[in-house]
Amino acid sequence: MSEKKHRVSRRQFLTYTLTGVGGFMAAGMLSPMVRMALDPALEASGGSDFISVGIGEDELTGEPQRVDFNVEIVDAWHTSEQSQSAWIYKEGDEIVALSPTCTHLGCTVNWDANEDYPGNYFCPCHGGRFEKDGTNIAGTPPTRPLDIYDVEVRDGMVYLGQTNER
Ligand code: FES
Repeated sequence: MSEKKHRVSRRQFLTYTLTGVGGFMAAGMLSPMVRMALDPALEASGGSDFISVGIGEDELTGEPQRVDFNVEIVDAWHTSEQSQSAWIYKEGDEIVALSPTCTHLGCTVNWDANEDYPGNYFCPCHGGRFEKDGTNIAGTPPTRPLDIYDVEVRDGMVYLGQTNER
C-alpha cells in the first residue's frame, strides 16, 4: 500500500467515523421529536384521563380533606406511577378539588395547618396562604390561585382529571 493511499484511507476512516457518530447523535435527538409530531398521543398520558381517588361523593363535606392517589404515566416504552394529591370539598352541588402545589415555588400546602391562619391553606416554605377555594391571599408570596382539578362523579365515586391553571 502506498503512503498516499494510506493517508487517504485514514482520512476516509475519520470521515466515516465522524459522520456515523454525528448521524447517530442527530437521530437520537430527532427521533423523539418526530415521534411526538407524528403521534401526540404518545406523550405522557394520564393528563386527560379521569382516575378514581377512592372517595365517595357522599363522604365529602364543606371541610377540605386530602386524598392521595397514583397516576399511571405511559409513554411509548415505559410505564410509571406518579403519586398525586388533592384537597377536596363539596359546597352545595359543586365538588372542588385543588392541587396542593403552592403556586409560588412548588411546596405543598396544607389546610388549616397554621393556628394563626385558620381556614386557609398554608404553605410552610414562605408563608404563602390561600382561601378555601384556592384563591391566593394578597400580601403572601403566591401570585395566582391553586390549580384546580377537573372532577367527575361516576357511580357515586369521585374521579379527578387534569389540573388547570386559573
Ligand atoms: S413555595 Fe409556597 S410560599 Fe413559597
